[in-house]
Amino acid sequence: MRIDIVTIFPEFFGVLDISLLGKARTSGLLEVQAHDLRQWTHDRHRTVDDTPYGGGAGMVMRPEPWGEALDALAPDADVSENGPVLIVPTPAGERFTQSLAREFAAEKHLLFACGRYEGIDSRVVEHAETRMRVRQVSLGDYVLNGGEVAVTAMIEAIGRLIPGVVGNPESLTEESHEDGLLEYPSYTKPSVWRDLEVPPVLLSGNHAAIAAWRREQQVERTRRVRPDLLPD
Ligand code: ADE
Repeated sequence: MRIDIVTIFPEFFGVLDISLLGKARTSGLLEVQAHDLRQWTHDRHRTVDDTPYGGGAGMVMRPEPWGEALDALAPDADVSENGPVLIVPTPAGERFTQSLAREFAAEKHLLFACGRYEGIDSRVVEHAETRMRVRQVSLGDYVLNGGEVAVTAMIEAIGRLIPGVVGNPESLTEESHEDGLLEYPSYTKPSVWRDLEVPPVLLSGNHAAIAAWRREQQVERTRRVRPDLLPD
């Protein structure tokens, strides 16, 4: 998969060099490039923002550098399933979920546009929608200073679903959100630690009993912490 990120802080994405995603990049499963939006400016100060029309607090990112960036990174884009997907992180977007991560993990080319300040001039998305698929996506109901942290989280969630990135694919299916429930609690050795015992069923060797206990734990935890995930 190819991933292009446009940002005014390309150095931020050095974190993607480490751990499993770093390995996936070295092995060629994942090709990630962060591009400095300012390379598509033409004034001496390399300006990317300006005051909002209609007034109000903060600054808005000007459309011209974004337009040039998207032209350069996706010159042959089209709205078909074979074309790239532009993902714009914003608290005003649809919620990023495991199922959206799965959808994006099946794509060949993702483009991420990291806004700063009060966001990007709305015409950028409007124009991009005429020539590629565009998704405005929110990490959750809180506000970050810009899209960089959100994009890092999304790339980690998407990248680990690409076949071959996570060594043991079974570990992907037994996680929170994969089956609509939160995951069950996990334990390892020693069986007693600071007077706390591992639940005896896990030491029983009875696989059916273990599976039933884990399922029960999942349902109980989900009901307690995230009742919104359960069907009515
Ligand atoms: N940019 C700022 N806040 C954000 C959020 N909650 N999700 C995605 N991108 C953002």
